[in-house]
Amino acid sequence: MPQSAVRHVNLASPLSARRGARLAGKVRVPGDKSISHRALIFGALAVGETTITGLLEGEDVLHTADAMRALGATVERRNDGAWHVRGVGVGGFCEPCGPLDFGNSGTGCRLVMGAVAGCPVTATFDGDASLRKRPMRRILDPVELMGARAVRASEGGRLPITIAGARDVIPIVYRTPVPSAQIKSAVLLAGLAAPGETTVIESEASRDHTERLLAHFGAQVTVEENGTGRKITLKGQPELLPAPVAVPADPSSAAFPMVAALIVPGSEVILTDVMTNPLRTGLITTLREMGADIETLDARSDGGEEMADFRVRASALRGVEVPAARAPSMIDEYPVLAVAASFAEGTTVMRGLHELRVKESDRLAAVAEGLRGNGVAVEIAGDDLIVHGSARAPGSGAVVTHMDHRIAMAFLVMGLASERPVAIDDAAIIATSFPDFVPLMRSLGATLA
Ligand code: S3P
Repeated sequence: MPQSAVRHVNLASPLSARRGARLAGKVRVPGDKSISHRALIFGALAVGETTITGLLEGEDVLHTADAMRALGATVERRNDGAWHVRGVGVGGFCEPCGPLDFGNSGTGCRLVMGAVAGCPVTATFDGDASLRKRPMRRILDPVELMGARAVRASEGGRLPITIAGARDVIPIVYRTPVPSAQIKSAVLLAGLAAPGETTVIESEASRDHTERLLAHFGAQVTVEENGTGRKITLKGQPELLPAPVAVPADPSSAAFPMVAALIVPGSEVILTDVMTNPLRTGLITTLREMGADIETLDARSDGGEEMADFRVRASALRGVEVPAARAPSMIDEYPVLAVAASFAEGTTVMRGLHELRVKESDRLAAVAEGLRGNGVAVEIAGDDLIVHGSARAPGSGAVVTHMDHRIAMAFLVMGLASERPVAIDDAAIIATSFPDFVPLMRSLGATLA
C-alpha cells in the first residue's frame, strides 16, 4: 500500500461499463475523504501520537499525508493498516523544502493553506491541471485578514500560490461568501494559533467534521444554530491532544454502488459502516423521495460520527424537485443523482448548483454533456440542472471526465443499466478518492472492461 502519493502523469485509462446481471453482495466502501484529510492535519497539529484506522488511502489523502511530512510531522502506515501521526503542536509547522503538491485535491490544499497561514513559515501550494483552475481567493481573502500574506499567486488567485504565514495571527469573525466547509475549515485552522476567538458564520450549514474533530482533539468549539446556518466559535491557542480516529465509510463513495443497485434491475446490495452525519445525507433523503428502497439496518454512533448499514434494492424511481437548501448536504453527489434521475420516470429539477461549476471540473457542464451524449434529455437553467427521465437511458456515449473522479464513476454507473455501454476516457482519476472502485463494483457483479 503506498505511503506517499504517486503523481499521475497523464496515464489516462479508458474504461466502459455495460449492462449485465443484477448486482448483489455486501461491501464497505473506503474511509471518508473529508475525515481522512482532517485526521492527518489535526494529528500533525497535536502534541503526541494520533492513531487513525480506516484512513482513505486514495491519492488525494496521500498528498495531504506527504504535505504533513513536509511540514515536520511524522506520518507512517504500519503493517496492520493503521496510520500513526506524531504532531508538532499548534503553530509548530516547519518550513517545507519544496512546493507542497496536492494533486487533484481542493480539500487538502485549502485546509492546509489555512493551517499554514497560522504558522510563521512560507510554503508554496501546487496541484494538477484541474486544481490549478480552481478558485483559491476564497481562502486567501480570510487568511490575509488574519495576518498571512499571499506572496505569489497565479492569475485570478489560482495555484501555484506561495503563502507567508502570520507571525501574530489575528482572530476574526468571518462570514463565508458561499456555504463551504473548506473555507470554514481553513479559517478555523488558521484561528487555532490566534490569541482569541475566531468565529465563522455560514448562511447554510456545511459539513461539520472540522468542528467535531477539533472538539475530539480537545479544542473548545461552540456551535450555534442560526436559522438554516451556523455560527462556529473556536477558542484559540489550545493544546491539541492526540485522539484516536476511526474513519467511517464515505457516503460520497457509497453513493455510486447505491445508485447502481437502484437502477440495475433485480439488484440487492448492502453497504456497511456508511457515515450518516446529517450534513452528508442529502442524497439518501432525495433518493427516498424518488421512491428508492433504501433500508437503514443498523444505525449507531462511533467516535463522534453517526453511521449505519444500508440495504438497497432496485427500485422504480420518479422525478422530484431538489431544493437549493439541500445542496450543501449532497454537494458531491449531483453527478450520480443526475444518473439516477435519468432512470426515473419524469423530470428531476436540482436547484442552486452554482458551486458545481468550481469543483474538480465544471460539473454542471460535464454532467449535462455526459447525459446528452448518452441520449438523456437535460437542460441547464441558470444554476439549476433539469433532467427529463424516461426510466431508461440509451447509452453508447463517450464521456469526457475532465480529470474529475466523480464524473468518471457516475457515468460508469450509468453504463451498468443503459441500453448500450457507456465509455469514459479516464478511469485512472478514480484513484483520487476510491482506489478500489472497479474491483468493488466487479465484486457486486458489474461488467467493467
Ligand atoms: C469538502 C467540502 C466540499 C466538498 C469536498 C470536500 C470538505 O467542498 O465538495 O469534496 O472535506 O470540506 P466545499 O466546501 O468547497 O463545498
